[in-house]
Amino acid sequence: MKILFYTGKGGVGKSTIAAATAWQLSQKNRVLIVSLDPAHNLGDIFGVTLKNKKAQFTEKLFLKEINLQKLSRDYLQREINVLSSTYKYLQTLNLDDYFSVLKYSPGIEEYALLTSIEETVRNETDFDYIIFDTPPTGLTLRFLALPRITITWIDRLIQIRQKILEKRYTIQKIRGTSKEEIVLNYSEEDDDVLKRLRTLNDNYQALNSILQGEDCSIVLVFNPDILSLKESQRLIEGLYDLNLPLRLFIDNKVNEENRKIADRIEKNIKSMAKDVPIERVSLSKALLNGKGGKLYDIPEDTISKLHIR
Ligand SMILES: Nc1ncnc2c1ncn2[C@@H]1O[C@H](COP(=O)(O)OP(=O)(O)OP(=O)(O)O)[C@@H](O)[C@H]1O
Ligand SMILES: [Mg+2]
Repeated sequence: MKILFYTGKGGVGKSTIAAATAWQLSQKNRVLIVSLDPAHNLGDIFGVTLKNKKAQFTEKLFLKEINLQKLSRDYLQREINVLSSTYKYLQTLNLDDYFSVLKYSPGIEEYALLTSIEETVRNETDFDYIIFDTPPTGLTLRFLALPRITITWIDRLIQIRQKILEKRYTIQKIRGTSKEEIVLNYSEEDDDVLKRLRTLNDNYQALNSILQGEDCSIVLVFNPDILSLKESQRLIEGLYDLNLPLRLFIDNKVNEENRKIADRIEKNIKSMAKDVPIERVSLSKALLNGKGGKLYDIPEDTISKLHIR
């Protein structure tokens, strides 16, 4: 299974290019295209209404729009359930107060998005391609950075937890227990917190290997203009820092008038990422129509170059 992320500045044509590519690939392959952008237009592009569920568009093409608000709520609720069942014995701390403000905590949307990507990749294994249409740069870089940040944190938390269990064990040995007392687990196999940390660690390690692996490709779309160049430069640096596989650039909306700027901008981009190819897409008419129709006035042989095989 191949995984493709279409990234870039707002409005450069990520959704358009991702949709056209998904459409063409689905002529021969099973393709799922997922929009991670809170401001969706995947449904509009294909002329259908999508309701936060995977929908079959043609025999081999499936569409899905993520509802970020619902995803964040569900994610938070799941975490709260785990926390409250794991920390039942800490009722005195009044965790309810803590939970009620947790929803304002930074990073919830990014974690929710990442969890959704992880679940999609883990569950949708009968697709040949999963294509993710991403939100604008900032949010995308933040959620792509999360696995590495999280793994570092979890590793540290596991060490701290192991220390706590060691201390519990020592105290237990010294004191023994009376009958009325709640005995806290002190062996690693019985400790729910440690088990949970290890599961999280495995999930994020797996996701990180997928994101950095051979079958994942990040495609960066830009336009021949200076603002788009600046944002692409930031994205290229971010992806290199994160060791993520940037494999293709698409210079979209090129025409006679902006051809010279396009040349200059491509040269600039090339100087930052020498081995990554650049494909050009002309400014063309976007055709909106439904089932079985051609979506964009972009030549088929151009579309065939807009992904990594
Ligand atoms: N090659 C093209 N020729 C003509 N119009 C295009 C082309 N590519 C994209 N467009 C148009 O540009 C607009 C923005 O495209 P699109 O929505 O795909 O960008 P996006 O990067 O996904 O934007 P957002 O960041 O808002 O999600 C749309 O109106 C789309 O039809
Ligand atoms: Mg879009």
